[in-house]
Amino acid sequence: MALNTINPTETRAWKKLELHYKEMQKASMHEMFLSDTARTEKFNLKWNDFLIDYSKNIITQETIALLLELANEVGLKSAIKDYFDGGIINQTENRAVLHTALRAKESAVVKVDGKNVVPEIYDVKNKIKVFTNEVTSGKRTGFTGKSFTDIVNIGIGGSDLGPAMAVEALQFYRNHLNVHFVSNVDGDHVNEIIKKLNPETTLFVVVSKTFTTQETLTNSETIKKWFLSRDFGTAQEDVAKHFVAVSTNIEKVTEFGINPDNIFPMWDWVGGRFSLWSAVGLSISLAVGFENFDELLSGANEMDEHFKTTDFDQNAPVILALLSIWYNNFFGAESEALIPYTQYLQKLAPYLQQGTMESNGKSVGRDGNPVNYQTGTIIWGEPGTNSQHAFFQLIHQGTKLIPTDFIGFVNPLYGDENHHDKLMSNFFAQTEALMQGKSKEQVQTEFEKQGLPADKSKFLLPFKVFTGNKPTNTILIQKLSPKTLGSLIALYEHKIFVQGIVWNIFSFDQWGVELGKQLANSILEEINTKKVKDHDSSTAFLLNHFLRNK
Ligand code: F6P
Repeated sequence: MALNTINPTETRAWKKLELHYKEMQKASMHEMFLSDTARTEKFNLKWNDFLIDYSKNIITQETIALLLELANEVGLKSAIKDYFDGGIINQTENRAVLHTALRAKESAVVKVDGKNVVPEIYDVKNKIKVFTNEVTSGKRTGFTGKSFTDIVNIGIGGSDLGPAMAVEALQFYRNHLNVHFVSNVDGDHVNEIIKKLNPETTLFVVVSKTFTTQETLTNSETIKKWFLSRDFGTAQEDVAKHFVAVSTNIEKVTEFGINPDNIFPMWDWVGGRFSLWSAVGLSISLAVGFENFDELLSGANEMDEHFKTTDFDQNAPVILALLSIWYNNFFGAESEALIPYTQYLQKLAPYLQQGTMESNGKSVGRDGNPVNYQTGTIIWGEPGTNSQHAFFQLIHQGTKLIPTDFIGFVNPLYGDENHHDKLMSNFFAQTEALMQGKSKEQVQTEFEKQGLPADKSKFLLPFKVFTGNKPTNTILIQKLSPKTLGSLIALYEHKIFVQGIVWNIFSFDQWGVELGKQLANSILEEINTKKVKDHDSSTAFLLNHFLRNK
């Protein structure tokens, strides 16, 4: 079934939210906390190993009620059903959106064109399992009979960011294999990586849904050439032992020289940025073992069930999505920060940048007309505490409103309480400071205690005041594990989905990346022939400079 095309700004709930915003724009969270000691109980969610406290937002119960009304009015419930049931909700590409099926239980039935796809998914999962075990146990070897020590994932966008993020995040659970990622078409990137590798013991996983992506094909060819260089004593048939591929394009992969037995299929109903759950996650499975990979999937499946079955007022992805809409569309916030208090999640923000911005960076509604409201938020972030020493100044005292998600863990993985308590004291302190701020009176009292002379304190006072009232969500998880990571990623995936539904846009295509690609192809031709064609004067000037000086 096609998704409906309701302009959210024309709903009754939106109009009420606009009026409500007028009352709320100056509301003080600090005062709301003082006047309601039960506030936190009203605005938190407990689910599995997750505690989500969203009380430090500029909201009242009425705000939440109106946002939920909006979700209902735009038909979120039936959209969720279509999403999970394999409806063609990616209408511009005429595809279902079924990354959720990749983590479904074996007994589930999910139909695409009337056919249950779960058995095929489990066949591929089994292939991943067997392959992983053969590589990690040393049964599968390279061309000289030595077991593999290094894995190189060659892919870009969704064929890189998800696996790279998860391999980094699950380092603690990793085995002896070193996993590397080559993504950029920048030759310096690939050369830096291959110079450290021994071809005898390196396995290359070429990941490309389409197998037409310039970056991935160029890197794969460069690596194959390096692998076949005379110095190593390799022969063409050795390629089959060292290169495997994940793709929907079996023909192109075979043309590249990869043994058909070493192709891990995927399906067009899995979007690149949601594909780490498929064989695109092969490098994750190789790095942490198939059981841990399967745990990642089961954590995501539990979040899927929560999202599918829980009432919206207790539904974590729905609540997080609606809060983000509240700031984006009513307060005019343009970006959101994502601050994990663990170094392991240092690649979460770049990963979710693709998930969020490629999905919801759209300005045409599902009815084909330009939207008259804001859509996709800008996502950015770095782990705390590093980010505190980098950009927190702007969040605390800058002119922009930046709603921030804080993600922390109750227990560290190495059990170092000394470090962890320091880390987490920062985690709690930051959300409190952002909400409470520091008043003139408080600063004045501090100055008096320090015995600061009156002229100095008068001068310094305005700079030392923090207005506070900066919204945050706190996501506190018991421990970082494959399972909790799976749930966390799925939480954000569903947040993206909910926002796309409310904003009346198609979240699962990415036409916006095409124009640059097309132009790059024709410019490459001009560079190769050294003939600059028709361009605007700036581009022509730059290209001529490049050609003259290279
Ligand atoms: O950036 C556009 C995009 O199509 C992404 O959506 C995708 O993840 C990436 O390119 C890589 O595509 P492929 O897996 O087909 O090489």
